[in-house]
Amino acid sequence: MSTQEPTGENLPVGDGPLGDAGRGASSETPASGRSLPVAPASAGSLPVERLVAAGQGFSQPQYTDNFYETVGGHATFMKLVDAFYAGVADDDVLRPMYPEQDLGPAKERLLLFLEQYWGGPKTYGEQRGHPRLRMRHMPFRVGPQARDRWLHHMRAAVDTLDLAPLHEATLWDYLDRAAHSMVNAAD
Ligand code: HEM
Repeated sequence: MSTQEPTGENLPVGDGPLGDAGRGASSETPASGRSLPVAPASAGSLPVERLVAAGQGFSQPQYTDNFYETVGGHATFMKLVDAFYAGVADDDVLRPMYPEQDLGPAKERLLLFLEQYWGGPKTYGEQRGHPRLRMRHMPFRVGPQARDRWLHHMRAAVDTLDLAPLHEATLWDYLDRAAHSMVNAAD
């Protein structure tokens, strides 16, 4: 397992889950699990000898490399999308963008996507195929204002989770960059 920072391959742009066809073969996401940035923050700064010494009788630290499980699994992601869509429902910029009267199906799609992305069930892929999220957002005009409204509601939703700082930063960093990568209009 690596403790390295996520690289471009794990970002939602390019070859990641939002990547469009033809930009590379990899569809790896944190869901594939091997290099999640959830190792202990201190590990990188400790000399090897101390890590080895600490390994004597070393009990398993309080993390796994599956971010989905680490942050609480389905209940956590459900809470996230519930809070997010409660914000969207009252937003006069975002709400009109959602084609369906009922936000429930859109909420379900975001839930399944995020669960899969972070290492949970792969239901999104089974139902929807490759995410290609940038492409799927093309029918919608996503300008800076919509992006910032999206991020505003997502920030509030993330705050309801009370995650450990490292996990919160990991999740937020992804969402922030994903939202920026989704912009497809100048206004
Ligand atoms: C930047 C601002 C964004 C806006 C304004 C926006 C808006 C929308 C809209 C209007 C839809 C169609 C609703 C539906 O599912 O029927 C949609 C779908 C979706 N969005 Fe976004 N979105 C944004 C960013 C993101 C980001 C950052 C992610 C992922 C991290 C995301 C994930 C999804 C997913 C998974 C779907 C359903 C795709 C499918 O059809 O399978 N969106 N979005």
